[in-house]
Amino acid sequence: MLYTLFTVACLVVTAMATAAAPLVRILNDHPLIFFHGRWDTAPETWWSGSGFKINVQDLTSLTLNLGPNTTAPFVALGVSVDYAPFVSINASAGANVIAIPPAKGKRTTVVRINAEMYFSSQMHLESIDLNAGATLVPYRPSRLVFEFIGDSLSTGYLTPEGILQAWDFLIGETFKAEETVVAQPGAALVDIPSFGNVHGMSFQFFRTEDTSYFYDPLHNFTTPWDFRQDVPERTHVVVHIGANDASQNVDQALFVSTYIDFLATLRKLYPHQPFFLFTPWGWPNPDGPNAFYYPGAYEAVLAARKSLGDTNMFLVNTTGWVTYADVSPDSLHPSVAGHAKIAGLFQAWLEDWGLHPLEAWSNP
Ligand SMILES: *[C@@H]1O[C@H](CO)[C@@H](O)[C@H](O)[C@H]1NC(C)=O
Ligand SMILES: *[C@@H]1O[C@H](CO)[C@@H](O)[C@H](O)[C@H]1NC(C)=O
Ligand SMILES: *[C@@H]1O[C@H](CO)[C@@H](O)[C@H](O)[C@H]1NC(C)=O
Ligand SMILES: *[C@@H]1O[C@H](CO)[C@@H](O)[C@H](O)[C@H]1NC(C)=O
Repeated sequence: MLYTLFTVACLVVTAMATAAAPLVRILNDHPLIFFHGRWDTAPETWWSGSGFKINVQDLTSLTLNLGPNTTAPFVALGVSVDYAPFVSINASAGANVIAIPPAKGKRTTVVRINAEMYFSSQMHLESIDLNAGATLVPYRPSRLVFEFIGDSLSTGYLTPEGILQAWDFLIGETFKAEETVVAQPGAALVDIPSFGNVHGMSFQFFRTEDTSYFYDPLHNFTTPWDFRQDVPERTHVVVHIGANDASQNVDQALFVSTYIDFLATLRKLYPHQPFFLFTPWGWPNPDGPNAFYYPGAYEAVLAARKSLGDTNMFLVNTTGWVTYADVSPDSLHPSVAGHAKIAGLFQAWLEDWGLHPLEAWSNP
């Protein structure tokens, strides 16, 4: 009788264990998490669009466990499952369940999650819980890897979903590429305080944190970025900068010399990559032509690089790309439709230059 009771008890325990099959917990230092953009040691994200990608076999559920350094009350994240268009969610410190639609006739699922905004956009990743039986498999990065450098015009500033709707992020999607955006609204290139930023991009580009660190009570400091973490190697570098220098009345000669020095430093990091330098599209007016700034400056910067023997930089003439109809709600920054238009024009420019979107994603 005793024996029987013991057997029954064992059976009950076994049944309970089966019902609550343990989730598969992936810690933030798992080697198969593909991190992109810039993360500090927490690890938490800085700059627009930083995040991670994973490729999972037999995935049916996913919970994102975020740590206490996550922006409160929430951080806006973009989520894309199996290369479907990104969807925005608000996530908070603690457990965040991510909806995983049923897989369509294949065993692996790619999940991409990134922070959307340019200020207060810290996703502190602690762990990821997957359903029992799910396994991480390698995420194969795309062979196209863009590095975008800029200001508000490259962050989707004032669009509802931030970087998800910005022309540069859209280029990454269209070309089926990896991309990193190191851009900060209001930042000048010259290292001066500008519109709330304590540094210009000629300083902050080389840091882990964007300039919002200054306003973060949990992380009120900045640290050097270790460029060895930029894996895989970038294949194309795009720079669109100068609007805030002009707004801060930085002298044109100082802007040009700072830009030339900045490119010389970037060239050491990216020795053989083509650089695409955007000219200003100007500030649109309700009537009359756009207001341009720094006439001839971008041509002078390019000429200086050429005179040093650097023939792998190209001016992207964006004159005419943005009209008054393309900027809202502040009549200065591109709207969602404006960003899509810019992305289309830059895609056409790149195709003309010789770079075409890949036909397939790297993890089919
Ligand atoms: C996380 O926040 C704590 C304060 O709660 C702070 O001391 C720590 O430096 C932060 N970690 C990072 C990497 O910013
Ligand atoms: C996130 O929260 C903000 C502020 O409450 C809200 O405007 C936005 O719609 C929320 N986003 C989603 C996807 O729920
Ligand atoms: C960050 O530190 C600076 C001094 O370095 C101080 O002026 C500022 O108020 C601090 N900000 C926060 C949010 O703690
Ligand atoms: C850019 O394009 C405009 C309009 O087509 C033209 O007037 C201008 O000279 C071009 N600038 C450069 C640097 O090629």
